[in-house]
Amino acid sequence: MTQAAPPLPGYALVTGATAGLGASFTRRLAAEGRDLVLVARTLDRLESMAAEVRDRFAVQVEVLPADLSTPDGCAAVAARIGQSERPVDTLINNAGIGLYRRFGDAPLADEQRLLDLNVGSVLTLTHAAVGAMTTRGRGEIINISSVAGFVPRGPSTTYAAGKAWVTSFSEGLSLLLAGTGVRITAVCPGFTHTEFHDRAKADMSGTPSWMWLDADRVVAEGLADARAGVVISVPSRRYKALLILVKVLPRSVVRWVVSRR
Ligand SMILES: NC(=O)c1ccc[n+]([C@@H]2O[C@H](COP(=O)([O-])OP(=O)(O)OC[C@H]3O[C@@H](n4cnc5c(N)ncnc54)[C@H](OP(=O)(O)O)[C@@H]3O)[C@@H](O)[C@H]2O)c1
Repeated sequence: MTQAAPPLPGYALVTGATAGLGASFTRRLAAEGRDLVLVARTLDRLESMAAEVRDRFAVQVEVLPADLSTPDGCAAVAARIGQSERPVDTLINNAGIGLYRRFGDAPLADEQRLLDLNVGSVLTLTHAAVGAMTTRGRGEIINISSVAGFVPRGPSTTYAAGKAWVTSFSEGLSLLLAGTGVRITAVCPGFTHTEFHDRAKADMSGTPSWMWLDADRVVAEGLADARAGVVISVPSRRYKALLILVKVLPRSVVRWVVSRR
């Protein structure tokens, strides 16, 4: 069994820190005593999250409001990651959105915004982190992907393709980072109770209750996997089992099953 990595001394930067999985990462890392940089667009939610974790865990917290679907937002966060004072040793690329529309029905700008956030910001921030972290010889990068990246999706085609990129990108980088002191993990959750589906105005009433995960449990398992050196983490036994099926079934059968939903 792989030994868990020792705790890192520097800041942990969490994108999408104010809700869902990002809020859960924020509370968990603060409970470990980690100083934090919190990123999202909405300043008052960032400040109330910062106040909560400062009060509860006595950690240093910076808030960095940024729209990560824009080049300026990504550049501001990348600059913070590249700073040598108050170094960022943990990057959680978590901010992401869904788009529950048939491809072609939604404006191209919406598809592009999704890719800019879910893929573009992961590319830019990981690039900044790999440079800074390999220079220091320590660090961890956790990219929040999705099980959606393993299956073809009709209504969320661009989302699923973007998550396939995040998983493949993280796996490829893990080879490059071996021996540098920097670890990278793609965490691939299934459906999780957060604000995600409401924001995307998705009707989830047909999704069976057994398919829903709890955000704190996803984060606990994802972090434990990352510290154990797991490169692709799939939280929960039920989604691990589903993915084994996806891997062994012929792809035409997978497409048929998905198209029935
Ligand atoms: N929930 C699920 O079922 C599920 C399953 C698999 C994977 N995931 C992935 O998990 C990640 C987190 O999702 P979640 O479910 O926790 O979502 P959520 O509850 O909707 O939270 C999204 C967070 O991202 C921030 N955000 C949204 N757009 C942003 C932007 N343009 N720039 C910066 N921050 C932005 C939001 O704050 P502001 O609005 O203030 O910016 C919020 O803090 C995403 O990458 C998602 O794809 C989710």
